[in-house]
Amino acid sequence: MSVLVVGGAGYIGSHTVRRLLEAGEDVVIVDALYTGHKEAVPENCRLYEFDIRDEAALDELFKNEEIDTVIHFGAFSIVGESMKDPLKYYDNNLGGTLSLLKVMTRHRIPRIVFSSTAATYGEPEQIPIHENDKTSPTNPYGETKLAMEKMFHWSNLAGGPNYVALRYFNACGADESAEIGEDHNPETHLIPLILQVPLGTRDKISIFGTDYQTPDGTCIRDYIHVDDLANAHILAMNYLRDGGKSDVFNLGNGTGFSVRQVIDAAEEVVGTAIPREEKERREGDPAKLVASSNKAKEVLGWTPEKTDLPTIISSAWKWHRSHPEGFR
Ligand code: UFG
Repeated sequence: MSVLVVGGAGYIGSHTVRRLLEAGEDVVIVDALYTGHKEAVPENCRLYEFDIRDEAALDELFKNEEIDTVIHFGAFSIVGESMKDPLKYYDNNLGGTLSLLKVMTRHRIPRIVFSSTAATYGEPEQIPIHENDKTSPTNPYGETKLAMEKMFHWSNLAGGPNYVALRYFNACGADESAEIGEDHNPETHLIPLILQVPLGTRDKISIFGTDYQTPDGTCIRDYIHVDDLANAHILAMNYLRDGGKSDVFNLGNGTGFSVRQVIDAAEEVVGTAIPREEKERREGDPAKLVASSNKAKEVLGWTPEKTDLPTIISSAWKWHRSHPEGFR
């Protein structure tokens, strides 16, 4: 039996593929390579290159392979882009998931673990954020992820696959080997942007907003290492294999760090000053997002291990320094 990883050539997907192989799983990947990278796919797994909205191609795949579990990362994930082109997000994120779910149901595939996001909550009512807090996304990206969760919920009640939805907070860091890491185009995330300064491809880092109601005035986020996220997928898969019920889990570090704290920690790691520029707030940024991950700890037995900023940033720095142009 094999595990099908949809979007296995992407950032979090490729890290999870490595952990699955280490755990002795046979891995099949489907990726349209819109944002994923062929170079991130290890040789010892089978890569199918197509868009999961292609139901006939998916059907063929499920006929050829014996799939036991699906892990689904295949979605667009840039908040700003989703505001400018919402239908692109509805089309790909929901269209792809609908097609996947239809084919999985037809082939009686019993379970799926999939990526959701902190963006399903929108502006939080309390910190830390719990899974049953109000979900009210403030952008189309978060809306499509919440709709995906609901699609799985209702289809599961009607006999479709059991599922675990994992709501990631701020994914960051890279594999110890530095063979794979974050490579987005355009890059919008804080840590890779900061590291472009010591790499020499950016003069300074912009701080978006210094007047938030936080101790140093900058936004606080919950940065969670991609290896810890990858491990959570394996635990979630095994939880479902052991008969666990469909559910939703936050995945965060449990500690918030401000933008200034992240830049300061990066200066320590790289050993040079990182010039910064204070800018206006970025539209739609909540002041503070920090997860309660107690449920994942209690139910899945998940404990994030790479939780301090120097560890997170060092691993990202090792990747970016050895791959200044990403996978190119
Ligand atoms: N930031 C800067 N300067 C930059 C880039 C970012 O100050 O050049 C700040 C942002 O304003 C924010 C923080 O750094 O306060 C983190 O920003 P990111 O863009 O790295 O991450 P977000 O918190 O905006 O987004 C993350 C995930 C999304 C998810 C969202 C949930 O990347 O996929 O959390 O709200 F939707």
